Amino acid sequence: MHKVIFDTDPGIDDAMALLFLHRHPEIDLIGVTTVFGNAPIEITTRNALYLGEAWNIPAPVAQGAGHTFDPARGGSYWPTAIHGHNGIGDVPVPEAVSRTADPRPAYQFIIDTVRAHPGEVTLIAVGRMTNLALVLKHDPDVAALVKQVIIMGGAFDINGNVSPAAEANIHGDPEAADLVFTAPWRVVVVGLDVTMQTVMTSGFLAEMVAGGRADIKLLSDISQLYIDFYKSRVGDGMVVHDSCACVYLVRPDLFKTRSGPIRVVCGGIADGQTIQKPDGRGFPPGPWDGHPSQLITTDVQPDGVLSTIRAAL
Ligand code: BDR
Ligand code: CA
Repeated sequence: MHKVIFDTDPGIDDAMALLFLHRHPEIDLIGVTTVFGNAPIEITTRNALYLGEAWNIPAPVAQGAGHTFDPARGGSYWPTAIHGHNGIGDVPVPEAVSRTADPRPAYQFIIDTVRAHPGEVTLIAVGRMTNLALVLKHDPDVAALVKQVIIMGGAFDINGNVSPAAEANIHGDPEAADLVFTAPWRVVVVGLDVTMQTVMTSGFLAEMVAGGRADIKLLSDISQLYIDFYKSRVGDGMVVHDSCACVYLVRPDLFKTRSGPIRVVCGGIADGQTIQKPDGRGFPPGPWDGHPSQLITTDVQPDGVLSTIRAAL
């Protein structure tokens, strides 16, 4: 069983990933931590609690960061055209959710949980890297106790999605991401290079809905705005960014990877750009030197990812 803490900003594709982690038979979802991103922190936390309640997910939810790691960075923008004003496609959510969040901030929840299960916990982060950066700030020794960190974020050999250089999760907090990539833990990055290839068509989703399950119906309702947004970009269907990162945990064989230290551009016109220096490539001394090699995913078998999601859901 893979013990997982899911760090997320629900978020429509986050919602699918949450259901995947909950239902996959080899995954033990032991915590959900929230971060700002697709919506403000109060909303992403409310959504995590609401989905947890609607889908009977026993994992506790701890609220995380509501702003960037470096407070000097300006305010955030909310991608309402993609995720709606309420973060889950403007499907009505009850104002009050009866579940409540864990009293600890997300970084403390992660520290305590990893220390309780040294070497066993995988962190899957599919929003801004702020909570993970706060873990490193408050308890740097925890890095050595984490099994691996799987991240949805970045764009390496292709354009970003919020600028030609940057992907949203990294662009939303570049300083945090740079800390996370250069820390002494094992990181695997599932970026746009592969997630943009994993498109779930509306027919595929409709087939799952036809199974008659209420949880899939809610997921499908939530997803309609997102599918509309992606129409002009990928044709019919939704890009399942966050689920793709979760699938890496159980089916790494579906991905090609490349190893090398990763840095993030912090500021300027390429703010939030992720750059990997491939291992074995000779360059003059530079900002990559002295940092650990991490894995990025460079290619994927999309059909394998989609069938893994369907089988779990
Ligand atoms: C990432 O940004 C968010 O909008 C999605 O939930 C995903 O984590 C894709 O760039
Ligand atoms: Ca996300």
